[in-house]
Amino acid sequence: MKKIILFFLFISSQFIVRADEGMWLPLLISQNYDAMQKMGLKLTAEQIYSINNGSLKDAIVHFGGGCTAEVISDKGLLLTNHHCGYDAIATLSSVSNNYLMNGFMANSMDQELPAPGLSVRFLVRIEDVTDKVSAFIGDAYGADVEKKFDEISKKITKVSNEDGAYESDVKSFYAGNKYYLFVYQRFTDVRLVSAPPESLGKFGGDTDNWMWPRHTCDFSMFRVYSNNDNKPAPYSINNRPYIPKHHLPVSLKGVQENDYAMVMGYPGRTTRYLTSYGVDLAINVSNPSVVKIRDKRLSIMREEMEKDPAVDLQYASSYAQLANYWKYFIGQTEQLKNLHIEELKQDEEDEFVKWAKENDSDVKKIMPDFKKAYANYRPYAKHATYYREAFMASALTKLGASFEQVGKAVEANESADSIENLCKKIVASRKSILKNINVELDKKVFAALNLMFYQDIPKGQHPDIFTSEVFEKYGSENWKKTFDDYTDFVYQNTALLDSAKFATLCHADFIRILLLDPAVQHALSEVKNYKEYYEPKINDFTYEMFDLNRAYQGALLEKANNKLMYPDANSTMRVTYGKVSAYAPKDAVSFNYYTTANGLLDKYKAGDKEFDLQPKVVELLKTRNYGPYQDKKLGELVTCFITTDDITGGNSGSPVINADGELIGTAFDGNWEAMSGDIAFDKRYKRTICADIRYVLWVVDKVLDGRRLLDEMTVRN
Ligand code: ARG
Repeated sequence: MKKIILFFLFISSQFIVRADEGMWLPLLISQNYDAMQKMGLKLTAEQIYSINNGSLKDAIVHFGGGCTAEVISDKGLLLTNHHCGYDAIATLSSVSNNYLMNGFMANSMDQELPAPGLSVRFLVRIEDVTDKVSAFIGDAYGADVEKKFDEISKKITKVSNEDGAYESDVKSFYAGNKYYLFVYQRFTDVRLVSAPPESLGKFGGDTDNWMWPRHTCDFSMFRVYSNNDNKPAPYSINNRPYIPKHHLPVSLKGVQENDYAMVMGYPGRTTRYLTSYGVDLAINVSNPSVVKIRDKRLSIMREEMEKDPAVDLQYASSYAQLANYWKYFIGQTEQLKNLHIEELKQDEEDEFVKWAKENDSDVKKIMPDFKKAYANYRPYAKHATYYREAFMASALTKLGASFEQVGKAVEANESADSIENLCKKIVASRKSILKNINVELDKKVFAALNLMFYQDIPKGQHPDIFTSEVFEKYGSENWKKTFDDYTDFVYQNTALLDSAKFATLCHADFIRILLLDPAVQHALSEVKNYKEYYEPKINDFTYEMFDLNRAYQGALLEKANNKLMYPDANSTMRVTYGKVSAYAPKDAVSFNYYTTANGLLDKYKAGDKEFDLQPKVVELLKTRNYGPYQDKKLGELVTCFITTDDITGGNSGSPVINADGELIGTAFDGNWEAMSGDIAFDKRYKRTICADIRYVLWVVDKVLDGRRLLDEMTVRN
């Protein structure tokens, strides 16, 4: 379990270094340049972001939509996290060829494995389009803002896409006070090059997840392939490695406390300007709901996965994803309370209102509006979470829900052709929805989470199916039994899980039969209930929040005057800069800024699901076979280190870059004591957890025998 390392030798002054808040837009990085230079940066702003010359931004990609990766050779070699490559590695694995369990190393380029469905985007340029977008939106409000935004975005991106050479997005910043255009090049031929065994790539499992000190070697490597013109192309045996405009040199120098360190990548979402009312809702309604539902779902999954290695592999990726944010929300709630975030927000709001009154700003009465909007939404907030997390948890329900449109089309007596087309869509989505299904597991999830939905959601909000089908036929003496029997009935009588039956029935002629299928009836009963009564309320709240947040953040920008204010993360490229730095999580406890391979051996537990190591790795560690990757001063293999950079989910896999623009690590996690960081950044505790690049190279070289990869990198001593 969590080990607390005590370093009595550290004096408290060493912990004065505070975390460095802010996820900055690379286009505007010159505004931060002085501060960066003062902290030690030796590059020019132009070397970070340039549209004319190769710069750091050209070595960084949005990986698979939810992560970051960096180019580390002139042959398009990518480094990202193990947990970012996890789904691809699992998909490419089988029980007999289990790369997830054993690791993977392609010994030559022709052994690199095309990863189906995986793509990466390079950023070409960013442009400020605020004037165009704001003028078009005018003084629209509510849902109209979104409509107008979509319309003008389409016009703008139509031009910047240059007939398919690029793809681009217009993104809103500061809740609609600024708009930027991002132009990308997407590459779809991405191949798996190397991965550590899961015992290293996910060492410590969920026990160590979101925590420091850490020893996880959370990396994997892929390669981008292009056609002969170095342009994106679908997979082809004739494609060749992409030649990047820039790749990151790799430094073996290692890190010292207070060294400059910056991170560039694609942070997904933060809500740093959330009001105290939002914090209250998270603490008391949304977070506990997610945690409770996932607790149940994960325990069912674990039970079935432990029974059968095939099921284990099948569900490994979705389990990891569910577990990651299960623990995230436990930590977020705990730290929102510990760090008194609601009170801090209230103080900020008081100060804001005072400023607004002094300046006679339009928004001086905005806080009661926020309060009212949250109060109106609150009776439905739980339903929204349960709909997504519990009701839709089983694959069978998801598939049943995909009949919504066809059901409407039948009711509206639409033509056989249009119904046939809708059926085709269902057939296609059925494949992906049922891709990884284990019926026994799915059934247990269905029974348990419907029961939970029934028990936790106010009766007045229930779908008809609970009364018309479940209670009438299966009684109401023992709810668990009722839902178990009902589940048996649904799974025994549905045609959706039988491919042959389904193929015969999913046509215009037979669609009425399928619409009576118990799984379809079950799903659509709640889909209709939700969409008719609750979604409109949730949408009202969402649009009201858009309007209020636009006004609030607009005023905050005004209040900040000339001081820099960074926008919330929104899956666009950002730069964060800080230092390598230790911290003291609580009274009398100090955490060092790095971990070593000694800790790996300390935590090692043979046969354990989370702390096992391969015999080969144990041998290498015991003989201290660290090669050139050993830290020269310490005489140890440094495994991970921490910095004060400001990152969040989506930054996973981001490069950690030193003052000279060299790669020193890959960022892979945040720390427990600052888990409320997406809502409020705590300067004392927030740290970014990074795998030291020398640890990564040690695994590539010594564990996976992949020296050919080292040969193509630009390694600096
Ligand atoms: N917490 C890490 C992140 O969100 C992911 C770690 C994955 N490991 C795990 N045990 N689930 O970036």
